[in-house]
Amino acid sequence: HIQAVIFDLDGVITDTAEYHYLAWKKLADELNIPFNRNFNEALKGVSRMDSLKKIISRAQPAPSFSEDELNRLADRKNEYYKEYIQQITPDDLLPGITDLMKEIKQKGIKIGLASASKNAMVVLEKLGITSFFDGIVDAATIEHGKPDPEIFLAAARQLHAESASCVGIEDAEAGIQAIKAAGMFAVGIGTADKMKEAGLRVEGTQKLSFIKIESAYLLKNK
Ligand code: BG6
Ligand code: MG
Repeated sequence: HIQAVIFDLDGVITDTAEYHYLAWKKLADELNIPFNRNFNEALKGVSRMDSLKKIISRAQPAPSFSEDELNRLADRKNEYYKEYIQQITPDDLLPGITDLMKEIKQKGIKIGLASASKNAMVVLEKLGITSFFDGIVDAATIEHGKPDPEIFLAAARQLHAESASCVGIEDAEAGIQAIKAAGMFAVGIGTADKMKEAGLRVEGTQKLSFIKIESAYLLKNK
């Protein structure tokens, strides 16, 4: 049976994926680097610095920045992002998420967070859901970002759960890869083309339910 459900944050619990996009878009525009929603898909789940490097490498010709300059650019994006997340309230929980978490709790199953974001705690506080979590991985302690399984394995360890008995929920391709590399069951939220690798895919969070997740998980483990 399922021992733990490990959630991604941005784009799964709340739509901060949109704020990350808007903040990067603002920075890219200032740098005159082409940037759009389609390319932004490749940044989902990717750390702040790695995202910045991916954006810069798209410029023609790609400018070269010193480490100091890179840090300042990453900080600038984060300032834009922090402004956006100020406005978050519990109303910004994506549909179905609170009910799903309550259901998981009622079953005595653990809830974990595996977010690459260093702003995760602030966002959880603003949403008012910090107390739902039995374990929250600090992104600053993770050496290898998604698609590496490290962050999901760290979450399972915190929850004293075995990988094979964990379910991960993600909206990013890199995140689904990370869940699967950790030996967990992957639930993907998004379009079929992006979520090909997921064990269960739903179009949006309103379509999530524990019974759906459990049935798919049990079928997979038969
Ligand atoms: C992930 C987001 O959750 O966190 C990425 O999907 C983001 O878009 C990453 O770059 C790092 O977030 P932060 O808040 O530490 O810049
Ligand atoms: Mg995400």
